[in-house]
Amino acid sequence: MQFNVNPGGKLQGELRVPGDKSISHRSIMLGALADGTTEIEGFLEGEDSLATLNAFRAMGVSIDGPQDGKLRVHGVGLHGLQAPSKPLDLGNSGTSMRLMAGLLAAQTFDSELTGDSSLARRPMARVTKPLQQMGAQIDTREGGLPPLLIRGGRTLQAIEYVLPVASAQIKSCLLLAGLYAEGTTRITEPAPTRDHSERMLQAFSCPVGSAGGTVSVTGGATLKATKLEIPADISSAAFFIVAASIAPGSDITLTDVGINPTRTGILHILELMGADIEILNKRQFGAEPVADLRVRHAPLRGIDIPVEYVPLAIDEFPAIFIAAAVATGRTVLTGAEELRVKESDRIAAMATGLKTLGVDASPRDDGIEIEGGKLGAGTIDSLGDHRIAMAFAVSGLVAQGPILLDDCANVTTSFPGFVELAQRAGLQISETQT
Ligand code: S3P
Repeated sequence: MQFNVNPGGKLQGELRVPGDKSISHRSIMLGALADGTTEIEGFLEGEDSLATLNAFRAMGVSIDGPQDGKLRVHGVGLHGLQAPSKPLDLGNSGTSMRLMAGLLAAQTFDSELTGDSSLARRPMARVTKPLQQMGAQIDTREGGLPPLLIRGGRTLQAIEYVLPVASAQIKSCLLLAGLYAEGTTRITEPAPTRDHSERMLQAFSCPVGSAGGTVSVTGGATLKATKLEIPADISSAAFFIVAASIAPGSDITLTDVGINPTRTGILHILELMGADIEILNKRQFGAEPVADLRVRHAPLRGIDIPVEYVPLAIDEFPAIFIAAAVATGRTVLTGAEELRVKESDRIAAMATGLKTLGVDASPRDDGIEIEGGKLGAGTIDSLGDHRIAMAFAVSGLVAQGPILLDDCANVTTSFPGFVELAQRAGLQISETQT
């Protein structure tokens, strides 16, 4: 799949981007493990969250839908999953693999987790090591890479674990394993990361402790089915927030966007750069705060990105780098080595693409330096990474010529309908099947 973007255009109107990917994954997992039927609205019908859904179906969970983002998950209880008849293919989804490893390590049956060529390169020792400390038996390929072969029939013991990296995926994996462990599992994070698992466990009537950067869960609790309304994904909204900020004359409103404070790093970073973002109509979708975001074009300036925002904006850096490339002056990011192990090496992918457009971008081990200026034109490889494709797609608004983006099919992992929504908002974008 290729995207063709022609320069010019401004963004206008009101749009709702698809449901939050992180919350969609968790809604299936906790809904499946609960007692009773969980009703979900606003579910992301993207390949990643559908991979989680299909994996639970393959373990005997009956799920009605999705239809227009609505689902009913008939929970089987913590001990009701059945052995899958073949390996569970999680496609491109690191979240599915890391979170599911935690709960599968505690089942009576064996399971195997696989995925596509990008997932096959993602580090998994970060979850298998602490799970092994809890008593799990998991084999990986050399170097801690997928597939994961998880042995059933193990009794897990609670551990106290200090996360070596700020990662909500490791935290969530261990919380899920902790539901089955003997004792209280305590996880300490070096910096706050997204807390959707903690909020959702509580919505399922499962107590989660939280104090001074440590979260805890005690084995033996049961989950009670609930109703969930999933906010629009701020990580998908990010592309339109940046698009409206950089394209002169833009004025858009993004509705129902999740503004959980562990996800709003992008808003803080863009505001420091001079963006004009109004947060309107704040309200709650259950345990999660949402708002409508009105974004108008504004001149941006380069900044040193405060390191404490890095985990709170971890998925938004491809979009933020486009804002930096258009800003006046230099933007410097440090403390973001995690970007090198996402769906692609996002520091390398963005630096290469920006250089193709004539931007002075210097990758560093743990970040990047970008000197803002004019964006040229050219052909860029998205490397199969959805967020690289969407970031360069919106850069086309202010480029000096057409941008051709290769390897864009994975945009459907997180943002089905991106091209149609972008066209409706004002981008001159089309897609071609290659
Ligand atoms: C996610 C956490 C983040 C993020 C990923 C989704 C989650 O990963 O990059 O897209 O749903 O918990 P890390 O927590 O490993 O940084």
